[in-house]
Amino acid sequence: MHKNIWHPFTIIKDSPEPLKVKRGMGAYLELEDGRVVMDCISSWWVNMHGHSHPGIAKAIYEQAKTLEHVIFAGFTHEPAEQLAEMITGKLPKNLNRLFYSDNGSTAVEVAMKMAYQHWKNLGEDRKTFICFDGAYHGDTLGAMSVGERSLFTEVFKELMFDVEVIPFPETWIDDSKRASKEDAVIEQLEDLLDKTPGKYAGIIMEPLIQGAGGMRMCSEEFLQKIHWVNRQFDVLLIFDEVMTGFGRTGDYFACLKAQVEPDIICLSKGISGGFMPLAATVCSDDIYNSFNSSEAIKTFWHGHSYTGNPLGCAAGVASWKLLEENESVFKNMEQIHLNNFERIKAHPRIFRLRVKGTISAFDIVDGGEVGWEEGYLNPISKELRKRALDLGYLLRPLGNVLYLMPPYCVSEEELNGIYDAILELV
Ligand SMILES: Cc1ncc(COP(=O)(O)O)c(C=O)c1O
Repeated sequence: MHKNIWHPFTIIKDSPEPLKVKRGMGAYLELEDGRVVMDCISSWWVNMHGHSHPGIAKAIYEQAKTLEHVIFAGFTHEPAEQLAEMITGKLPKNLNRLFYSDNGSTAVEVAMKMAYQHWKNLGEDRKTFICFDGAYHGDTLGAMSVGERSLFTEVFKELMFDVEVIPFPETWIDDSKRASKEDAVIEQLEDLLDKTPGKYAGIIMEPLIQGAGGMRMCSEEFLQKIHWVNRQFDVLLIFDEVMTGFGRTGDYFACLKAQVEPDIICLSKGISGGFMPLAATVCSDDIYNSFNSSEAIKTFWHGHSYTGNPLGCAAGVASWKLLEENESVFKNMEQIHLNNFERIKAHPRIFRLRVKGTISAFDIVDGGEVGWEEGYLNPISKELRKRALDLGYLLRPLGNVLYLMPPYCVSEEELNGIYDAILELV
């Protein structure tokens, strides 16, 4: 460990030395020791078109020569406007106002503050958020509050605010209980909203796939039911698409795939193709209009030094163009995953196979190991990571959940090769 660096999500004592990366090339990373590994998880899910993509690198360079940064209050610039038009042009029609920040957690904080203040501006006091078990929305205090209370949040529990938690009806291929699980959640939600109308500011969820919680997937129909209930009870629906945005679920956004119009959507990760820290929170005209006042108390007093950073926005514009060029890739990747599922589904340790667009996952079940436990701390994660690296693949299982989220530049042969490796590993 470098004497001056403190790494994230890393138990300091006894952790292996971090691997030093010399360069990135498409789907591959070259390590300092000469090894080359395929990045099967797009480096924490941000890298959409491959590492060091020359088109995005050039866009950042050109922008850096022109305007590297400018205060975003009272000033604006072309890349910020262009990117906002591109994103809102594709989102459902009601989502028109884009607020920039710089990471997924802040995109979520902004969404919650907007929702809370929206009701205040309308003269209503709605404090409570409804969220899902297993959720992960980031590591700032607000984002932690609406996420799963776990080992990661335990130390901070007294600093977090209260929320209402409902179950996430996770499902998988050939799950015969999907509809009944969904109905039970919808009933519970209706009950909550019916008992105390006017208490809830909004529902926040990761649509279609809960990422860090274990790549838990739900159906498009479930999102439609949630949307319908929301409309009945006039509660805001917040989609955290920090992971699911920009093609990941097989459409540009999960809300499009499910044909649902949330009131607020949070975006980051893939927004800049993995090149620059950038995030956006997009809200409906209704929400924006409740702030559209000359009264200072109704103003959204929120911002970050790097809000709307021109380099990030220029990377975003270049990445969006590549996304459009590669539409068929992210729309067709699900079928390649499914073809490979045919090869691995009979394996005795592979369970609960699931896929949405470019993301596939399954649980690894007990192979008789002592101390086996489901969840993030399952030691199989560490073991698989190491063995996968020996085979030339960067995989980072979430406990006993193995998942793939490759950049869109991987070929069908390369993706099939990852599944060959998986069969060797499990
Ligand atoms: C759905 C979701 N929301 C929010 C976040 C937080 O994003 P960041 O790590 O950029 O703060 C993540 C990160 O994994 C995420 O998956």
